[in-house]
Amino acid sequence: MLSSITHAAVRAARPATARASALSAIRRGNATAASASPASALTTRSWEYIKVSLSETGKVGIVQLNRPKALNALCSGLFHELNDAIRTLDNDPAVGAVVLTGLPKAFAAGADIKEMANTHFVDNYKSNFLGHWTEITQARKPVIAAVQGFALGGGCELAMMCDLIYAGDNAKFGQPEIKLGTIPGAGGSQRLVKAVGKSKAMELVLSGNMWSAEEAERAGLVARVFPADTVVAEAVKLGEQIASYSQVATQMCKEAVNKSFELSLAEGLHFERRLFQATFATKDQKEGMKAFAEKRAAQWTNQ
Ligand code: CAA
Repeated sequence: MLSSITHAAVRAARPATARASALSAIRRGNATAASASPASALTTRSWEYIKVSLSETGKVGIVQLNRPKALNALCSGLFHELNDAIRTLDNDPAVGAVVLTGLPKAFAAGADIKEMANTHFVDNYKSNFLGHWTEITQARKPVIAAVQGFALGGGCELAMMCDLIYAGDNAKFGQPEIKLGTIPGAGGSQRLVKAVGKSKAMELVLSGNMWSAEEAERAGLVARVFPADTVVAEAVKLGEQIASYSQVATQMCKEAVNKSFELSLAEGLHFERRLFQATFATKDQKEGMKAFAEKRAAQWTNQ
């Protein structure tokens, strides 16, 4: 049960529905449809650190970090489960967008300090410690962070790895690693600068202070702020909207925007134009423009 996710659009788990559709598929004699989709199989799996559910339509995957005793501190096991869930949702054609959320008190309070406190450089170097944290950035479907409570250190960095951040009005963002005698290790000194500029990033990283949701929105880190108990539902609503479009077009949009972090303006514009031109080879571009002219809703085939 996703007890912190209150909106009616969000179903805590879909076993009953999955069972019902499996039964009706069996009634129809359709053995293939009777087997659970990869995404719906995630909702019944037994996880230690996360919960996975699907929106009412089944088009938005919802991954909830769920390690309440440690305020969702990001231990290695949690990240393995998270990567597994995101990878499966990303690869399921039925899913058009993903929402990543946490608990009312904490999206995530950072890397697990107790787990890493006594590790040493050579071991961390050899095991490429934190290397697997960036897998979420490889997802091709849009990933929306819905943040309530603390998003600190690795928690803030994880939110920044998502494509955009919706914040509850109780959210607190910060990079407090300086207080532990270390520095951000998963993008806090890099993605934060791209999100808010050097001066604001420098202030957050060097002070270890926290920003309120409003400050984070003003700085451009957060797209929108909502009452805390509605932020997940709002993120799912946006996910549904995104999932209602052509998956080919949404993925190309995401790819083009993300390229702007890596390329010069001239190269980025070139890349964007080529992708735009490429959309004219898709059935969805033909359908989208035809539907506009015929004043009807487009029927996307993701082709
Ligand atoms: N790692 C491990 N355990 C953590 C944790 C973390 N990052 N954050 C909180 N916890 C644990 C606490 O140790 C505590 O456990 P016990 O009950 O067993 O003592 C439990 O979660 C509850 O925490 P608090 O009692 O501290 O709760 P609070 O409401 O008083 O304070 C807080 C909340 C301000 C977030 C405080 O817990 C805190 O400062 N946490 C650490 C934040 C931090 O420094 N994050 C950066 C980590 S380093 C990093 O992330 C590096 C990177 O770039 C990848």
